[in-house]
Amino acid sequence: MKELVQRYGSPLYVYDAEVIRRQYRNLIHSIAYPRLRIHYACKANSNIHILRILRRLGAGIEVVSRAEAELAMRAGFSDVLYTCSNVTDEELRFAIQHHFMITIDSLGQLERYGKLNPGGSVSVRINNGIGAGMHQHVITGGPESKFGIYHTQVPEILRVAQQHGVHIVGVHQHIGSGILSPHIFMKAMRALLRTAREFPDLEFVDFGGGFGIPYRPGEKPLPMQQLGRQIARTFERFCREYGRRLRLVFEPGRYLVAESGRFLTTVTEVKKTPFHTFVCVDSGFSQFARPFLYGSYHEIVNLSKRNDKQRVTVAGNICESGDVFARDRMLAARAGDVLEIRNAGAYGYAMSSDFNGRARPAEVLVDHGRVRLIRHRHRMVDNP
Ligand code: LLP
Repeated sequence: MKELVQRYGSPLYVYDAEVIRRQYRNLIHSIAYPRLRIHYACKANSNIHILRILRRLGAGIEVVSRAEAELAMRAGFSDVLYTCSNVTDEELRFAIQHHFMITIDSLGQLERYGKLNPGGSVSVRINNGIGAGMHQHVITGGPESKFGIYHTQVPEILRVAQQHGVHIVGVHQHIGSGILSPHIFMKAMRALLRTAREFPDLEFVDFGGGFGIPYRPGEKPLPMQQLGRQIARTFERFCREYGRRLRLVFEPGRYLVAESGRFLTTVTEVKKTPFHTFVCVDSGFSQFARPFLYGSYHEIVNLSKRNDKQRVTVAGNICESGDVFARDRMLAARAGDVLEIRNAGAYGYAMSSDFNGRARPAEVLVDHGRVRLIRHRHRMVDNP
């Protein structure tokens, strides 16, 4: 790993392709339902080379913007779910023209869609009153959420759809992100299936993403095999009652890519104050934002073996006090050492920016020992 930093510079994102394949296979083998469809939520990591790995595995894709959709097409995807969050008419037209399956987020959107494409087919995002997730900011269901159409408004969905001859062929929900409780998943699944019964023309039910991964040492991963069996059984039962074997759709992001990625950053110095020991590094929240945004825990390992561990704060190079990657960690480090921040493959590079004039890092893909630069380090350019 340290050689990669010598070759491609620091800081650096490094991904292991095989981990992505492992996670995808794990998911499809765990949920043994013949009409299962996995759409990768590419907001988690939209590097086109990562997208291609998932396309080759047989995944579809979920996108939330025109740029993501264009990238998906460039990566060769044809099975695209377009999740509408505050879309403009222009965006709707674009999604209609490309025959993406659109997930409608509000009654107003359904109406606009109906006017633009009378007689078309869509999926609708339902808020069934249940939300969950690893942080307040990533809970996307429940009474406080801005997403979806509340389940009590189903009669209005049916009325607006009928007015414009729009066919509701899918129902969708995404209750939140980073969920490690199978119980919550099943509860939310049952809730959506209750709502689904009110739509007579369904072809699929989409349960969104949200599968968590363990970030902290000792944290239990989702028991995917057991959960998968429960999911398949519950869905089979629903289909028997519904009278048709529908497609079962998920839109995972984190689960597929988080563990494949590490973020490498170099220690610039170790700074002692009367109160703290700061391990200062050549990156910050502009390049890896999860600890700053959500207080997320990421394991940090020094790639140079040292044995004088002490309690430290790992501090970034951005001019804000909140810019720390970790507090109260036992870590030994010296200037020049390379630190590895683990599980950085999802929502790492994807949420990076050039804030403070620190150009976004490069990305490298390791596949069976073969190393490939899959994105150049950004260059800061002046505005004209
Ligand atoms: N589908 C929809 C409609 C979504 O909004 C999301 C994520 C997903 C699927 C994928 O969720 P996942 O399987 O990755 O949990 N930046 C945050 C995560 C935000 C997720 C937003 N929506 C983080 O770093 O934890």
